[in-house]
Amino acid sequence: MSLLLWSLLVLEIVVFVLFYIFLIDLIVIGHDFATTGPAINRLAEIIERHGKQDGIFFDLGSSRGVLVFRLQSRCLQLTSTGVDGSAFRIFLSRIMFLWPGRRATFLKADVLDVDISRADVVYMYLGTWMMAGLEEKLRHEMKPGAIAVTNTQFLPTWEPAQTVIVHPEKPEFEKMFVYIQT
Ligand SMILES: C[S@@+](CC[C@H](N)C(=O)[O-])C[C@H]1O[C@@H](n2cnc3c(N)ncnc32)[C@H](O)[C@@H]1O
Repeated sequence: MSLLLWSLLVLEIVVFVLFYIFLIDLIVIGHDFATTGPAINRLAEIIERHGKQDGIFFDLGSSRGVLVFRLQSRCLQLTSTGVDGSAFRIFLSRIMFLWPGRRATFLKADVLDVDISRADVVYMYLGTWMMAGLEEKLRHEMKPGAIAVTNTQFLPTWEPAQTVIVHPEKPEFEKMFVYIQT
């Protein structure tokens, strides 16, 4: 068999294996709705309005790193860390950040276990059931002046400093809540 045929066969096997890992990851770890482009633009505006565009950004529950990648196109000076419980999603994030000129750190961990004390901005697009635990963590660990932004869900007892409607035609979809640590 020629080298070309061997290469095609190997490529086919790699794609096949990755596809099945992708499916198993979705079934085992669960959904990973991604923040949409308009919401990423609003997040960038929030970051800029609060003067954090050259700060330290954490995406708690970063999935395959797409939000971190796209946000960096808007906020070039951000130092970003993505955290996800899925080893496969973290692997794909690291692959994407092999892109020339791109740098970010990706950690496979539970979002409740990472140290966010250096963060200037913490972003979360996570399930309702996680909000109480996250609120306690954010209040405990974030430094004064740091901001937390939640997408769709809100922190149960913390009054947001700002609420941002991303899609006026569908106001509840991707509504964002901004919290400022005192
Ligand atoms: C809805 S997706 C959000 C992806 C990305 N942040 C975005 O906005 O496009 C949520 C991600 O959080 C991850 N996740 C959920 N609970 C987690 C936990 N306790 N620790 C770490 N990651 C978690 C899931 O694996 C999933 O990839």
